[in-house]
Amino acid sequence: MRYVVNWPARMEEMASFVGLDEDAKGLIRASAPMIDEHAKALTDAVYDHFMGYPQARKFFLTETGEVDEERLARRKHTLIRWLRETAASDLDERFAGYLLAMGVSHGYPPAHREHLGPVPSRHIIGTISFVQSAIGDLLLREMDDTELALRTSMAWNRILMVELVLLLAGYITEPDGTP
Ligand code: HEM
Repeated sequence: MRYVVNWPARMEEMASFVGLDEDAKGLIRASAPMIDEHAKALTDAVYDHFMGYPQARKFFLTETGEVDEERLARRKHTLIRWLRETAASDLDERFAGYLLAMGVSHGYPPAHREHLGPVPSRHIIGTISFVQSAIGDLLLREMDDTELALRTSMAWNRILMVELVLLLAGYITEPDGTP
């Protein structure tokens, strides 16, 4: 049996499921400059964290086992871009495609890193959680209005959960084999 998933429609369904409404999207957009201002520190923290776990660290080492600073710098840059894209996203078809391609490149490694295997799904999940908490901390620290910080943090939590569903599209099938 062949299954076809309409991913933009599924993304929309998930947005509705988690309560990512227009208000929440507005809060995310409004916080974009603040997130952008701290994006470097945030992504540094993500990668420092990766390096503490051998199954994550191995993706960022040279063939001789040293930290590959050049690759790390490239990855940090793409993560900053991802945060920007997220903040500006109107969850359209292009954005769904962007997330699906990202998920595939983690789950189905290209030839040059085939020997490392897929990035473990638990680390993708953990990264989303890490970023949610880091953004929550940042908003609480930087915003004078605590209630607004909390509501903005909740909005980010929601959009990142929606993203997780698409990032893991190539990893997860239901027990009956459906995607
Ligand atoms: C929320 C989770 C994550 C996001 C949003 C993310 C984002 C990205 C992006 C945008 C790229 C570049 C474009 C692409 O190849 O599709 C990338 C590549 C990559 N990411 Fe991630 N990433 C995440 C988690 C992880 C984790 C947990 C690891 C490993 C511990 C990892 C390892 C890599 C590697 C190895 C590449 C390709 C590097 C290369 O071939 O030079 N990523 N990631």
